[in-house]
Amino acid sequence: MNNTSSSDLSTLKAVVACALPFLIILVFYVIFEPENARTSFIEMLQGLSFRRATRWTRFTRHRSAFGPFSLPKAITSYDQYLETSLENITAMRNSYSRIIWSHKHVGYELGYPEKLKQAEHVVKLNAEVTRGIVDLARSELSEHPHCNTPYVQTDLGRVQESLKHFVRDWSEEGAQERGRIFEPILNVLKDVPVEQRGGMKVLVPGSGLGRLAWEISELGFNTTAIEFSYFMTLGMRFLCSPQKTLNVNQHTIYPYANWFSHTRNNEDLFRGIPFPDAVPRFGRNLHLIEGDFLEYGHADEYDFVVSLFFIDTSLNIISTLQHIHKLLKPAGTWINLGPLLWTSGGRAQLELSLDEVLRLAGMVGFRIEGEEVQDHNGDNHARLDPVSIPSDNKKRRTVECEYTANRLAMMRWLYQAEFWVGTKLKQ
Ligand SMILES: C[S@@+](CC[C@H](N)C(=O)[O-])C[C@H]1O[C@@H](n2cnc3c(N)ncnc32)[C@H](O)[C@@H]1O
Ligand SMILES: *[C@@H]1O[C@H](CO)[C@@H](O)[C@H](O)[C@H]1NC(C)=O
Ligand SMILES: *[C@@H]1O[C@H](CO)[C@@H](O)[C@H](O)[C@H]1NC(C)=O
Repeated sequence: MNNTSSSDLSTLKAVVACALPFLIILVFYVIFEPENARTSFIEMLQGLSFRRATRWTRFTRHRSAFGPFSLPKAITSYDQYLETSLENITAMRNSYSRIIWSHKHVGYELGYPEKLKQAEHVVKLNAEVTRGIVDLARSELSEHPHCNTPYVQTDLGRVQESLKHFVRDWSEEGAQERGRIFEPILNVLKDVPVEQRGGMKVLVPGSGLGRLAWEISELGFNTTAIEFSYFMTLGMRFLCSPQKTLNVNQHTIYPYANWFSHTRNNEDLFRGIPFPDAVPRFGRNLHLIEGDFLEYGHADEYDFVVSLFFIDTSLNIISTLQHIHKLLKPAGTWINLGPLLWTSGGRAQLELSLDEVLRLAGMVGFRIEGEEVQDHNGDNHARLDPVSIPSDNKKRRTVECEYTANRLAMMRWLYQAEFWVGTKLKQ
């Protein structure tokens, strides 16, 4: 009897001992409330030790030194692009190898093993670009405290996304996608007489790989791009570096090879996209800030703020619109174009409809130019401010457009994005 109860007790002890680590992790999660489900436990530990080291009072993972868009994470992810991509292809090969022998024969006839080999081949070609990005980051940012801090968990998905942004922003292939969304924006800026542009400051928050900011700087405006994801800014540095990018179409990427779905043939799947179609440089009119827009800038500093596919990435849209308003000079201009794809799952603090965003803009202190409402018959009824009839260029409208689309895919994702121009009315 005694024997059994003492072995019961030791079983209980063993169970408790096993459960203890999980309990600690649970308590950790409860205390630090991870708002972003994708953020791993390891990331949180890295962020925590950094907070201790610097005695930061505020700890927001998105912006932290070890967050999902941080320099160590971006460098490590670019650095391990080849290995992680090959692992991915290995998983596909293993999956294929499990089919029965007769099917393997069919697969061979179809050339499927050869297709997997080709995927490996183009991944190696992509790695020439990702290696260049890492080399440059390590030399240009060697002073950064976390430049050489290895990161435990890499993010292949974000690297692949950045490669697609080279197409969107800097290739001939992307010209059509850019045209639809850049034209309305640039037309408003072109209304400014050329001789006045040099003295005007434009801010482009969430600037991605920087093509729009560059186009604006080419019009003669003093333009600042601000972007907090190092996955993006390292790419922009690569483009703007006289060491890395000297000629038009010097580099080639194969951005579609990682997703076999929706392809008509393997030529489309493995096609290379040369870039850049224009060679940008930082200079008098083009500046890059690697940081958080919400913490940047002074009141009444900018003549224009241009947000493209940006405002809906806000976790708090009220803060974003207030900050845009604050940075603008009185009577300054906010140009916006984009969809309303909120970060779902309760991570965004508000997920507003277009109506609500426009009402919010009014509450924050903007007048939206030439606002039109469409009734159910599709007729437009202008709701115009009689004192300032805007030029057609400033009229609010819907712009059908795409975002990092694969032009030859059997699937398309079309946005009915909204374009508007706001004027800062009051403080
Ligand atoms: C949907 S992407 C659009 C990028 C680019 N404007 C384009 O159209 O290709 C939004 C970008 O905003 C950046 N971003 C979001 N919030 C930001 C903030 N508070 N400060 C700086 N960048 C931010 C993200 O890192 C991301 O690159
Ligand atoms: C392949 O890479 C993607 C990132 O694009 C990742 O989400 C996915 O889980 C990987 N698949 C495999 C089988 O490793
Ligand atoms: C352009 O803007 C940058 C950044 O705000 C500023 O440092 C610079 O002095 C401005 N240049 C001119 C010519 O106004």
